[in-house]
Amino acid sequence: MQTDLSYAQELDAQDPLASFRDRFIIPDPNLIYLDGNSLGRMPKATKTLLDDIQHTWSERLIRSWGEKYIHVAQNIGAKIAQIVGAQADEVVIAESTSVNLFKLAVAAIRYAGSSRTKIITDDLNFPSDIYILDGVCKLLGEQYEIVVIKSADGIHAPAQQIIEAIDEDTALVTISHTVFKSAYTYDMAAINAAADKAGALVLWDLSHAAGSVPVMLNETNADLAIGCTYKYLNGGIGSNAFLYVRRDLQAKLENPIQGWFGQQQMFDFDYTYTPKSNIDRFLTGTPNVLSIAPIEIGVNLLIEAGMERIRQKSVAQTEYLIALYDALLAPLGYQLNSPRETARRGSHVSLGHPEGWRITQCLIEQMNIIPDFRAPDNIRIGITPLYTSFVEIHATALKLQQIVEERLYETFSAEIDPVIT
Ligand SMILES: Cc1ncc(COP(=O)(O)O)c(C=O)c1O
Repeated sequence: MQTDLSYAQELDAQDPLASFRDRFIIPDPNLIYLDGNSLGRMPKATKTLLDDIQHTWSERLIRSWGEKYIHVAQNIGAKIAQIVGAQADEVVIAESTSVNLFKLAVAAIRYAGSSRTKIITDDLNFPSDIYILDGVCKLLGEQYEIVVIKSADGIHAPAQQIIEAIDEDTALVTISHTVFKSAYTYDMAAINAAADKAGALVLWDLSHAAGSVPVMLNETNADLAIGCTYKYLNGGIGSNAFLYVRRDLQAKLENPIQGWFGQQQMFDFDYTYTPKSNIDRFLTGTPNVLSIAPIEIGVNLLIEAGMERIRQKSVAQTEYLIALYDALLAPLGYQLNSPRETARRGSHVSLGHPEGWRITQCLIEQMNIIPDFRAPDNIRIGITPLYTSFVEIHATALKLQQIVEERLYETFSAEIDPVIT
């Protein structure tokens, strides 16, 4: 029976990726961590790397740049390229996801020309992405319009409606490959093909997709992408983000935040900006070594495990959780707020419940289980195949059942605390 603990134990025993859990620092083995989709765990090798940075900085001083770090953004970008289906010279690390979105959106809209004034997105996108697009429009002029296509149910993205909305007025389509609440995952090829046909560019936010689902940027002829590294890439708390620009577009697009790291012969200190024609032109200033170097460790683990095996385990684990939801939780008022269709689901599962906020607090405070909560009622359960076990998923489902059956959530305040959970 799927609801038996022995079934979960059997799945763990057969798991080819089980040993990767030992590659992470896990101070409390009884803590069930289901928020790797917000902040990934810290790999053991990251600690060694941070010690190494400390030595390099203190002993080698300014020589550290030339000896080790000057190309850190490009070198680790080249590794990220391997997990998002791109070429080594198409990905670089810079700033945050938000700032990279701004840079690439402005570059793409300017490239599209003044006759294209529509920017298409959906209402499942990360709200901050829309704030940034709004800022981009304020900067570029009143003629630009953000068209937010609505999802019918807040779970499944309006993919067909987006395809139909793309026309000769469209400058840019920008959406999340895997959306942050429901984990709906777009068919990237279909959107890219529709945009390409209409002559518009697509900018993908890969924050919840990179390291969790197979991303085929080159194979689907993707134009542009950005993404976080502190989630499934286990790059570290507040680590910098990556950006991708397809090779043939690199020389055509202009970075609106021009700086010396994008300049040809930067150490000539010429006063005229002449950008490089490759991915470096999307860089601006000095790379944040402390927030970039550790990303390599997390990415190495993903490459070693292989995205195919990670996806296989992620699918098995999200399906297992959904089976437990069907058997134990649906009768208690929980709702499945993620797609059932495997191909359209990323690596987290959102379970809605009218008492979702209080249940989340009870999981964290009383059960030593950390998911996160996304308003209005989603308990978001992040599955990270490198360290999440089937037994942990089983235990979580039983606790979700117990909390509602025994009304344990009632001791927690219904007032939502705005601090990130
Ligand atoms: C999908 C998505 N896009 C963008 C962001 C913003 O990233 P940052 O705050 O690092 O700029 C996040 C942050 O969690 C996110 O989940």
